[in-house]
Amino acid sequence: MNLIAELEKLLSGLHADLPGVSSLAGLDELQTVYLGRKGALARLMGRLPELSPADRPAFGKAANAVKEEMVSLFAQRRKVYQTQAEDAGLARFDPSLPGRLPGQGTLHPVTLVMEEICRILVNLGFETVNGPEVETDFNNFQALNFPPDHPARDMQDTFFVREGVVMRTHTSPMQVRAMLEKGKPPVAVIAPGKVYRRDSDMTHSPMFHQIEGLLVDENVSLAHLRGTLTFFLRELFGPQVKVRFRPSFFPFTEPSLEVDMSCILCKGTGQRVIGRGGKEPCRVCKSSGWLEILGAGMVDPAVFTAVGFDPECSGFAFGLGVERVAMLKYGIDDLRNFFESDLRFLKQFI
Ligand code: PHE
Repeated sequence: MNLIAELEKLLSGLHADLPGVSSLAGLDELQTVYLGRKGALARLMGRLPELSPADRPAFGKAANAVKEEMVSLFAQRRKVYQTQAEDAGLARFDPSLPGRLPGQGTLHPVTLVMEEICRILVNLGFETVNGPEVETDFNNFQALNFPPDHPARDMQDTFFVREGVVMRTHTSPMQVRAMLEKGKPPVAVIAPGKVYRRDSDMTHSPMFHQIEGLLVDENVSLAHLRGTLTFFLRELFGPQVKVRFRPSFFPFTEPSLEVDMSCILCKGTGQRVIGRGGKEPCRVCKSSGWLEILGAGMVDPAVFTAVGFDPECSGFAFGLGVERVAMLKYGIDDLRNFFESDLRFLKQFI
């Protein structure tokens, strides 16, 4: 048969087939059959060499015209389906349905715990103060009775910014700033904030949060410190908490203490009850029944001298790690959870 006649047959074939198509997918399929790379039209055009060179231009022209017509037939059909799909979508659209609300964030667990700690201490009469995370060596160390090159500096794995300037290793420089700013007693401040140490594992992070407390007034004694911290820990963890003081060392307090509280998981027994009457060693306090929770002490006279206060003044100071409190309160055993921004973790604290 004449190839041009075959072209016409192909076109009328398409005219016959199109009304039988009932979906966009069906239309796609039919388009492949006719116009695909291995489709009917391509196969027909592949037979060009069967023609004598003189007949080839006429066939090429006819084939192009048929192709154009087919393309436009498919395009028209496609439009019909698209309009139908849009109409159907509009019919399903219900403008009276409530919109989708944007997801609401929650406060970070460290922020929640920090706010709770500050609330308790502010209710006791402490004022909240804030200061810079990049500190002078004087405020972070020297005024706190760490002389240059003193071995006590080894307790703090410091990030140095440059000579004489450090990322603060604790919130204690806020003691110095508060006293310098006030000029004279009484001073009653708490200082929450970020601190930095060259340290990183399950329980240490290069950045973490501390809260510092400082009270300077007449006749402040260790009894006031003990009363304040016992009240504070019972407000934070519950009235059943027991508190004990152990001797320790900090250059800026004398005497210095480590404050422990009874383990909140095993209630100070060192053992946890499992199953029916079974027991296992408490993993939180490592069976000791006690948890280290604060560093504290009576302000060393050398600190009063450094800030121009009368060395006969009296005062106490304490410092605690916020992440540690949050881990104990919420039963979290890997500190890194706080800093990985995993929403599955963070969304649990509302
Ligand atoms: N700054 C001390 C530390 O980071 C804690 C502390 C604060 C100890 C105040 C005594 C008084 O380890």
